[in-house]
Amino acid sequence: MEKTKISQLNEIREECLNCQKCELGKTRTNIVFSDGNPETAKAVLIGEAPGENEDLTGTPFVGRAGKLLNEFLEKAGISREKDLYIINTVKCRPPKNRVPEKDEKKQCESYLLKQINIINPKIIIFCGATALKSFVDTKTPISKIRGELLDIEVLGRKYNAITVFHPSFLLRKHSTEPGEPRDLMLKDLKKIKEIINS
Ligand code: URA
Repeated sequence: MEKTKISQLNEIREECLNCQKCELGKTRTNIVFSDGNPETAKAVLIGEAPGENEDLTGTPFVGRAGKLLNEFLEKAGISREKDLYIINTVKCRPPKNRVPEKDEKKQCESYLLKQINIINPKIIIFCGATALKSFVDTKTPISKIRGELLDIEVLGRKYNAITVFHPSFLLRKHSTEPGEPRDLMLKDLKKIKEIINS
């Protein structure tokens, strides 16, 4: 009998619980494995790395940035619980919330790629430049590449992908005027919503 998505993901979670492949394993409180419903998710959203609240709870995007992300998702009509499967480029919090290092991302990559292939989403959402640059070798600034549909390959399978601003950036940008980052974020999420529904 074929294994369910949940049982396949649980096997990876077990591996992560014991993982000490990089230094982040030494300082974590919890691994931050994922959030969302693997059986119904149509999009995989990839953030940067767990912060303090995520490290304490074991759930991605639960701090201030996560709350803002939730507000945007709601406005765009995307259900975090049903439509999304949320992960980060690394499963453990980098000390002082620094950007994860190349080697740390590399060590974590196999977990991430397997999670994506198990979910098999209609679209992958790179939330911020760190997530984008983990998959796409580009120097294009996020302000230019965001909203653009990309084709990427994960473990031999092709996926649609799109980049959106990271909510931490939006916490510093308050304007909702047309063309401002908050307006563009909503537009990008509405485009994603259409793809999810297609
Ligand atoms: N920022 C991220 O990129 N991921 C989280 O899980 C929390 C904050």
